[in-house]
Amino acid sequence: VSALGNDLSRVLYTPEEVQDRIAALAAQVDEDYAGKDVLLVGVLNGAVMIMADLSRALSIHCRMDWMAISSYGSGTKSSGVVRILKDLSTDIAGMHVLVVEDIVDTGLTLSYLISNLRSRNPASLEVLTAFRKPEALKMPVEVRYVGFDIPSEFVVGYGLDYDQRYRNLTGVATLAPHVYS
Ligand code: PRP
Ligand code: MN
Ligand code: MG
Repeated sequence: VSALGNDLSRVLYTPEEVQDRIAALAAQVDEDYAGKDVLLVGVLNGAVMIMADLSRALSIHCRMDWMAISSYGSGTKSSGVVRILKDLSTDIAGMHVLVVEDIVDTGLTLSYLISNLRSRNPASLEVLTAFRKPEALKMPVEVRYVGFDIPSEFVVGYGLDYDQRYRNLTGVATLAPHVYS
């Protein structure tokens, strides 16, 4: 853990706290989707950890599929224009779809994704996210299940990356200043 641990400044949530919260979310999903067949749609790459843990904490049947999306043009996410790099393998018409994200930040990614998926006529469409930054929200997105609301600062771990690293931290923390310099 040391190579990773040395780069951290402040722990926001320990691995145990994350897992406890995921278990509680899974219990809610179990209840809400009882008797239904749910399709979990993970948004690559950040959602890999939450998908793996959430799905294994569920008692109901679920299917899993994945989308990869990328911000278009300038590379800044604030344009709100999103491009599909990998689409679903599933026709979601008539299905109960639960989009699974690691974080909702500005909400631009999700608002694009929701309108895109809605046009495919799922039976229902909801969102679950491990983390959300309420202060950063630019687009109104309805998120049914939120693991943790966090302050608008740069955090890594549990799927959240800095330059594609730190996703494999089992907890969530802020980065030490030396990492940026
Ligand atoms: C991150 C995160 C969400 C999105 C949230 O993904 O995983 O998908 O940004 O930001 P937003 O609410 O401001 O749109 P990113 O595009 O960094 O790709 P990644 O999942 O591969 O890290
Ligand atoms: Mn992502
Ligand atoms: Mg990222």
